[in-house]
Amino acid sequence: MGVNLRGRSFLKILDFTPQEVRYLLDLAKNFKDLKRSGTPHKYLEGKNIVLLFEKTSTRTRCSFEVAGMDLGCGVTYLDPGSSQMGKKESIADTARVLGRMYDGIEYRGFSQELVEDLSKYSGVPVWNGLTDQFHPTQMLADLLTIEEKLGHLKGVKFTFMGDARNNMGNSLMVACAKMGLHFTACAPKELFPEEWLVETCRKLAEESGGSVTLTEDVTEGTKDADVIYTDIWVSMGEPDSVWEERIRLLKKYQVNNEVMANAKPEAIFMHCLPSFHDTKTTIGAEIAEKFGVNEMEVTDEVFESKQSVVFDEAENRMHTIKAVIYATLC
Ligand code: CP
Ligand code: NVA
Repeated sequence: MGVNLRGRSFLKILDFTPQEVRYLLDLAKNFKDLKRSGTPHKYLEGKNIVLLFEKTSTRTRCSFEVAGMDLGCGVTYLDPGSSQMGKKESIADTARVLGRMYDGIEYRGFSQELVEDLSKYSGVPVWNGLTDQFHPTQMLADLLTIEEKLGHLKGVKFTFMGDARNNMGNSLMVACAKMGLHFTACAPKELFPEEWLVETCRKLAEESGGSVTLTEDVTEGTKDADVIYTDIWVSMGEPDSVWEERIRLLKKYQVNNEVMANAKPEAIFMHCLPSFHDTKTTIGAEIAEKFGVNEMEVTDEVFESKQSVVFDEAENRMHTIKAVIYATLC
């Protein structure tokens, strides 16, 4: 049976079948070809979308803006200081107002419940641009990048190193389990994903031929991996006070030459970005001064190496987000 996502929200990968994810990846590949060949694809002229960001963003915001405009949509961006949402107006009321004006709503913020509520009340497709729990549009870009670089998804040995109980660790575990990859979270026990999600993913992996492993052992967790993936150690919305503890917990899970040498020779390095791989950012410089750590989740050498595909991955955010907008609004 054909896949039809018209009118659906895109809130988490758990809501989608492997066939639906496959459909979105294939659609993204088509849009990438159209963009590369300079072929216009304003298939959604007359539609309008609104982007709500309660947290900062470069890739997600720009991807939604460019994708929306390439498709011919009108695009409105609302930043944390320029809407009534949350302060003077409830999410339910905001959603019902925006649903009267826009054909689709992107939301980046804190709780997953909130984006689920937006979808419930607005009456139009809502796209999750990142919550504390999940980052589903990033998953499509990551799967597309893996497929482009390695030629397939099923059977790929994928290792996530770092804060495995946050939006990225959670989402990657779900995406890998759905699509038949072998997922390993290589992290300290304190930062393992929640038990219910691990169990859910293990069931999904049984169906897809993938697997889910949790380990604290870096050598075991990265051995013969096809993909080594990491994320920043302290995420948006977390207080500065957690830095010290997080550095203590995650220092040995840094992606460095030793880790990459333990993976397959042709392994790729991935990161959702932004990344603290040097001290050329305000926070990077502050952390270096305070804790004496010049490179955090990944060394500059690995980040800049031939194995690193982080900028291809970033570009794929736009093509995959375009697929999501089109598939749900067409
Ligand atoms: N990867 C990602 O979501 O980047 P931004 O925070 O810049 O949107
Ligand atoms: N875990 C990170 C992901 C950024 C794309 C954060 O939430 O800040």
